[in-house]
Amino acid sequence: MNIEPISPDFAARVTDIDLSQPLSDEATVEIEQAIARFAVLIFPDQPLTDDQHAAFTRRFGPIDKGLLLGSKRKPRLSNSDVIDLANVDADGNVLPAANIRNVSLIANQFWHSDSSFKSPPAKYSILCGMDLPDQGGQTEFADQRAAYDDLSDDMKATIDGMVAEHWAYHSRNMLGGGGYSEAEMAALPAVHWPIVHTISESGRKSLFVGIHTREIDGMITPEARMLLHDLLEHATQRKFVYRHEWQNNDVLMWDNQSTLHRGRAYDLNQLRELRRCTTEVVLDEAG
Ligand SMILES: [Fe+2]
Repeated sequence: MNIEPISPDFAARVTDIDLSQPLSDEATVEIEQAIARFAVLIFPDQPLTDDQHAAFTRRFGPIDKGLLLGSKRKPRLSNSDVIDLANVDADGNVLPAANIRNVSLIANQFWHSDSSFKSPPAKYSILCGMDLPDQGGQTEFADQRAAYDDLSDDMKATIDGMVAEHWAYHSRNMLGGGGYSEAEMAALPAVHWPIVHTISESGRKSLFVGIHTREIDGMITPEARMLLHDLLEHATQRKFVYRHEWQNNDVLMWDNQSTLHRGRAYDLNQLRELRRCTTEVVLDEAG
């Protein structure tokens, strides 16, 4: 395969490989090494069936089933390892803008790390872009290793050892809420992760904040919210961002532990069909 960096340590285009075919051990290692360095990989022109998408993903770890909060419609896809992110009903028609499913889909336009509100959280997300709108709907990635490196020594010392709470409904509430019941919210309790962690594959330190973070352990809420806001503002400066302009059948793979990402706005009346398959972080015995 051919690996072409977009910047020296962030985002690369990978060509001369067919993801629909079983991945050899050598190719798996080569991709793991590439994502450890670049954090985001772009594989252009890779039309995949759901089964091929899931088989490729499984080479990199156990599958995270994710969740699409507020989605009450029956599944369209036969492979339950693949998450349907299309803005359509069960028959494939574009949903009315006010449909509840759009709360979760629009929440993806906040900077986030997939499933950071779960334990274990997501490791690699592999997103197939099948049918994208003509305007908008790009996906942006922010390098959280570079963002950490760029913090002042004082801020690094301030946040050393801090633990933040991640809660799935925080982003939905910021959009006016999704009509969730107390029981639904209680079924997905908040989780706690260090604000700075070390990426085992690269040894690099990385920030771990985003829209799902709403508290810092041991800190009053307004002070915590402001610090989280400041960190997110720092972490998403344009110098850390790669913006992906989609072509149909692009496949994007990223490390959720090293990056934040967000979709960009698009006309809700236009079809935007993406499918995601995701691996979980394999937690060590210490958790
Ligand atoms: Fe996401």
